[in-house]
Amino acid sequence: MFKHNQKTTIIVMNYPVVETERRYTMTDYKVKDINLAPQGALLVEWATKHMPVLAQIRKRFEKEKPLKGVTLGACLHVTKETAVLAETLKAGGATVALCGSNPLSTQDEVAAYLATKGIHVYAWREQKTDEYFWCINKVLDYKPQVTLDDGADLVGILHKERTELLQNVTGGTEETTTGVIRLRAMEADGALKYPIIAVNDAYTKYLFDNRYGTGQSTIDGILRATSLLLAGKNFVVAGYGWCGRGLAMRAKGLGAQVIVTEVDPTKALEAIMDGFRVMPMNEAAKIGDFFVTLTGDIHVIRGEHMEKMKDGAIIANSGHFNVEINIPELEKMSVSKRTVRPNLEEYSLKDGRKLCLLAEGRLVNLAAAEGHPSEVMDMSFSNQALSTEYLTKHKGMKTKVYRVPKDIDELVAGLKLKAINVEIDELTEEQKKYLATWEEGTI
Ligand SMILES: NC(=O)c1ccc[n+]([C@@H]2O[C@H](COP(=O)([O-])OP(=O)(O)OC[C@H]3O[C@@H](n4cnc5c(N)ncnc54)[C@H](O)[C@@H]3O)[C@@H](O)[C@H]2O)c1
Repeated sequence: MFKHNQKTTIIVMNYPVVETERRYTMTDYKVKDINLAPQGALLVEWATKHMPVLAQIRKRFEKEKPLKGVTLGACLHVTKETAVLAETLKAGGATVALCGSNPLSTQDEVAAYLATKGIHVYAWREQKTDEYFWCINKVLDYKPQVTLDDGADLVGILHKERTELLQNVTGGTEETTTGVIRLRAMEADGALKYPIIAVNDAYTKYLFDNRYGTGQSTIDGILRATSLLLAGKNFVVAGYGWCGRGLAMRAKGLGAQVIVTEVDPTKALEAIMDGFRVMPMNEAAKIGDFFVTLTGDIHVIRGEHMEKMKDGAIIANSGHFNVEINIPELEKMSVSKRTVRPNLEEYSLKDGRKLCLLAEGRLVNLAAAEGHPSEVMDMSFSNQALSTEYLTKHKGMKTKVYRVPKDIDELVAGLKLKAINVEIDELTEEQKKYLATWEEGTI
């Protein structure tokens, strides 16, 4: 541990080692540029102001210190909202080690800010794959008792490569759909070694974060990357799950003609009745101006589709991993590529057409914009904070994937309503009795 104002060595991105004076009290970290901390502080201040539920939890954590002595290993997108979560967990007494859950999603200003606040942060934007996994391993070096993951990469490394550390871990949380799917597969295989709470599956998470958060921030990322008009354009949404529903709704709101592609007949029907056209990707490919994948699946847009796309088509992904678009096939079909704008690469195909890929096919809302709005992350991260507290209070849970306890989910909803000054009705005693009986029917 370093002392305040100690003259020491800071390692910054690209590994140059620089001698500098530490102006802050801090422990180990690795960020792009520690001097970005003041800008990060402003971003985090802004997010904090818009996360009232987490602020209340933090106040209680400061008093009760429910996480005292607990080391947390977190692999989450390092955004201003994640900073508010990290500070809340630290206020609860935890030691927090944090890395990014995507090589392109870290906000460098925020990472720098967190380093000055005693969070062991290992994250910077534009990481190579080996740097990304190096950071995960650095977090694991802290021997966490609870893991907080987004996409299950940290849990995966822990179970495959750092198994000696499993004995320290009492539980974990998982933030996103793709991570939960991976964890359920581990559970089914008997490979999972500790209990995990699927934060993604809380109502106060997916109904708001996946739907309204992804809906708005994906549009935000596309607009920042392209600066193009959506009105009147054919906007293809691949996957009509919670994220896809949100995106389709918001694209329609901006005047786009939305086309949905699906593999699930029920979801396809729902899309039709919600007012969208549904067709296979092979058909949509011919007419789409914008394509966005949000499926959690692999190679949803591939060579056979890109062969049919119009000149100038924009392709993006907002699903967790960068495998939804077959980028190696796009590379093979192309004779050259150039960066035209930040987060927009234009591929020149052999037949002369040009296709534009946003943010290297990584989550466009986090790579080209700032991820979900703070108000939405307020609920997701309140579930994270309370689930982390729950895991530390309930040692000895069975090794399986759990839903967020109903009490927590309802508490978050209640606190959010209160924070936005909305009151609702309460069941009367008569209504409670009526709803609990089976004897009453037609009168
Ligand atoms: N960008 C973000 O910030 C963000 C936020 C939350 C979740 N996610 C990620 O987005 C992805 C989707 O999450 P979700 O909560 O909407 O999941 P979901 O399970 O609710 O929906 C996924 C949908 O994709 C469909 N699908 C699967 N394969 C398909 C294919 N080949 N073609 C068309 N449709 C297909 C499924 O039938 C399903 O309806 C996941 O990877 C998740 O982790 C991203």
